[in-house]
Amino acid sequence: MAQAIDLMLRGARQIVTATGSQPRAGAGLAAIEIHENAALAIDDGCILEIGPVAPMEKRYQARHTLDAEGGVIVPGFVDAHTHPVFATTREVEFEQRTQGATYTEISQAGGGILSSVRGVRGASKEELVARLLLHLDRFLDMGTTTVEAKSGYGLSLEDELKCLEVIALAGAQHPVELVPTFLGAHEFPPEFRDRRGAYVDHLVQDMLPAVAERGLAEYCDIFTEAHVFGLDDSRRILERARELGFGLRLHVDQLTPLGGAELAAELGAASADHLEFVSDHGIESLGAAGVVPVLCPLVPLYLRVEQEVPGRRMVSAGLAPALATDFNPGSCYTQSMPEVMTWAALRLRFSAAECLTASTLNAACSLGRGASVGSLEPGKRANVLILDQPDYRHLCYEFGRNPVRVVIAGGKVVRDARRS
Ligand code: NIG
Ligand code: FE
Repeated sequence: MAQAIDLMLRGARQIVTATGSQPRAGAGLAAIEIHENAALAIDDGCILEIGPVAPMEKRYQARHTLDAEGGVIVPGFVDAHTHPVFATTREVEFEQRTQGATYTEISQAGGGILSSVRGVRGASKEELVARLLLHLDRFLDMGTTTVEAKSGYGLSLEDELKCLEVIALAGAQHPVELVPTFLGAHEFPPEFRDRRGAYVDHLVQDMLPAVAERGLAEYCDIFTEAHVFGLDDSRRILERARELGFGLRLHVDQLTPLGGAELAAELGAASADHLEFVSDHGIESLGAAGVVPVLCPLVPLYLRVEQEVPGRRMVSAGLAPALATDFNPGSCYTQSMPEVMTWAALRLRFSAAECLTASTLNAACSLGRGASVGSLEPGKRANVLILDQPDYRHLCYEFGRNPVRVVIAGGKVVRDARRS
């Protein structure tokens, strides 16, 4: 007798996925599975099986069936780097940059991160939750079902806790799964401008323990750059974070070649992000330590910076990169992983298969979620997309339009654009 299940997806031209629960490195980055004439069975929130349509239809009796109408089925995207808790946008700075101002000049004139800090400090928790929920709606529209979410625009104990509580509250009422990261070391707040050492002490002695005690973040991140947190301060803060049980993520070598990648490797970080100015030695160190480089190819474009991350060199060196939007109001205001993939193809010379693995499995692994999401395999959470494209390579090839028709999160259909 056929087994009763919740949902069967069929009618896809391709079902495409990376496989496994470990990050895929080097040549393995492109080793995806492509199933044709296949169906996908979902039950109890999880993927049960992918296989040829006829035997699947014999084996299972589905309560609901969805027709992919000749489109492509892929795993829900995982965005491994975002700053989604903010109250105000910064379109003025975008225009200033198009007129020639640099990101650093704008920051030094009181704009940049500090302008978002003013907004967050003046906003209530309720207002920030409402805004974050809107952002999460857009992530979901674009097919992203898991989002790493950083604090970092509060920069006081009270305001950082507020941001992390906002992430917990919004995550509890939205289908997008959030992975919370504490980024109290994003900038020096104005009240510590002339006492930088005192802010580092405050982070180590008060803020990190308070966040740990409340269980509000899985990871601790830092902006390691000469004009913000240098290597010594970064090491001190991150060693304390590690002691307190946080996983580590770092913004490194983004604007200058400081050697942040080597620090990420030394500390055994989960990820080292940005890396536009990484050295060959930095790449080697990341490989040896198994750190996932999280690449954000839209950021240099958005900041009008020439230097781009050596993505190809990283893959040749055997690294396992993830891709991310870096969604934030300053250096990248988009929630679209398909857009990221197009630019990773054009600028980093990643193939569509490499882009897909980097935007799903590798991103999930960098967030400690490799066993539960990031691929379409039996036992994993059923986070599944139906795209209205005829071939998975269209994810890179086409841009400027959202190809995501149906989003399934935890086995439930949470978006169906075919009906709207
Ligand atoms: O990832 N590099 C530092 N932080 C962000 C930018 C944040 C902002 O400008 O508000 C980034 O690019
Ligand atoms: Fe960032």
